[in-house]
Amino acid sequence: MAIDRVDAYLDAHRGDFEEQLKALLRIPSISAQPDHDADTRRAAEFLLDDFRAMGIGSAGLIETKGHPLVYAESLNAPGRPTVLVYGHYDVQPPEPLEPWTSPPFEPTVVGGNIIARGSTDDKGQMFTHLKAAEGWLKAGGGLPVNVKYLIEGEEEVGGANLEAYVKANREKLACDYAVISDTSQFAPGIPAITYGLKGLAYFELIVKGAKTDLHSGMFGGTVANPLNALSSILASLKGADNRIAIDGFYDPVRPLEAWERAEFARLPFSEEEFREQTGAPSLEGEVGYTTLERRWARPTCDVNGIYGGYQGPGPKTVLPWTAGAKLSFRLVPDQDPKRVAAQFRAHVAKVTPPGVTVEVIEHHGAPAVLVGVDSPGVRAASRAIEAGFGTPPVFMREGGSIPVVGLLKDNLGVDTLLLGWGQNDDNLHGPNEKFSLADYHRGIKASAHLLAELAKEEVSKSGGA
Ligand code: BES
Ligand code: ZN
Repeated sequence: MAIDRVDAYLDAHRGDFEEQLKALLRIPSISAQPDHDADTRRAAEFLLDDFRAMGIGSAGLIETKGHPLVYAESLNAPGRPTVLVYGHYDVQPPEPLEPWTSPPFEPTVVGGNIIARGSTDDKGQMFTHLKAAEGWLKAGGGLPVNVKYLIEGEEEVGGANLEAYVKANREKLACDYAVISDTSQFAPGIPAITYGLKGLAYFELIVKGAKTDLHSGMFGGTVANPLNALSSILASLKGADNRIAIDGFYDPVRPLEAWERAEFARLPFSEEEFREQTGAPSLEGEVGYTTLERRWARPTCDVNGIYGGYQGPGPKTVLPWTAGAKLSFRLVPDQDPKRVAAQFRAHVAKVTPPGVTVEVIEHHGAPAVLVGVDSPGVRAASRAIEAGFGTPPVFMREGGSIPVVGLLKDNLGVDTLLLGWGQNDDNLHGPNEKFSLADYHRGIKASAHLLAELAKEEVSKSGGA
């Protein structure tokens, strides 16, 4: 059978696949840092070369106002479904560098894990789909379904150019199934299909008082201090019960259903192990909810950074003239990021003390997503995961956000299969980001089987072949 030849090819090329991933990880494609624009493009070109080397029908770079998109397709399976695979080749900045045990762009294998920025988010996970396609093209007699690959370079900076591209190219991207590997498994040995992601509403507050920094003895207590004012605004966002204290914020929040709470509770999750993983002295969150419920299904609010005042060594008695903070809300289904922005602005206006002005800047936003768990695509994906990982997946939600999922739903009408090969302790966005090489190879195998399993399912009317 073709799939057996593909599996044999994947087994025989494990070493090559690891070397190729390392080469990709050596490219510092940090989309947020203009100094790395040339590197970011180099990562796109690396993928383009890989698509060409596997002999896929057509592949090219699509220029945008920012970093290019990589697009490749093979539409040689008439009457079969069309699968759109999305991934991202850009990575988060590696800073701060001190905690890294090896340089972030020198991939290093320790204990079966590959340590490098982007190893799990998302180069390693995304690349499994390219290697699976290579297996079919080189050993399986061609791809068993029609495929479209769309790999972007601006996911970590909000993906505005991708949004414009998808909206303008609905026909070209039309598909029966969308697939993304950019999430985690439930735990080692427990692969998962993720059916829910949180949304995001990200803001910056800029508080201004006097026209210049002042001596805190001569002027302290006579004019408002922007840092003090900012602190009181931030402190007002949550109550002692860890609930968000913004009027109307919870109104649209869909309550957790009894079946879902029961399903979460059935998963083998230890609060104590989770606490240990974080290193925090205790777990804290909204009253009345378990840790999994808080992570996956309840909205949250976190200050991401505060600036202002004297930050150098030793004391400096200064009354700063300005201060700022970046903060984000993770949203759950039925919360609208625009409505949250309006509620947040109204709240800030209400609680800002006299003597300062406050500017609210809206950074990126995305709605939460919930995808169906009872569909032919999910059943095919479950079989593929069982083939790759040796055990069927559990169903779970995640606290992270992948804005493209909502974009694909709204523009192409498809639910995305979120098939994550990462682990919860991969430390994405943090130091020593890692990805298990065993999971890399299992993910490649599952991705290859996914195409065979989807080929068995019926084609809907939206097929792009
Ligand atoms: N791969 C993550 C999303 C993710 C993280 C899913 C953890 C599940 C668990 C993705 O690359 C990411 O980091 N997304 C951003 C959102 C974006 C708008 C900056 C995030 O969640 O912070
Ligand atoms: Zn990612």
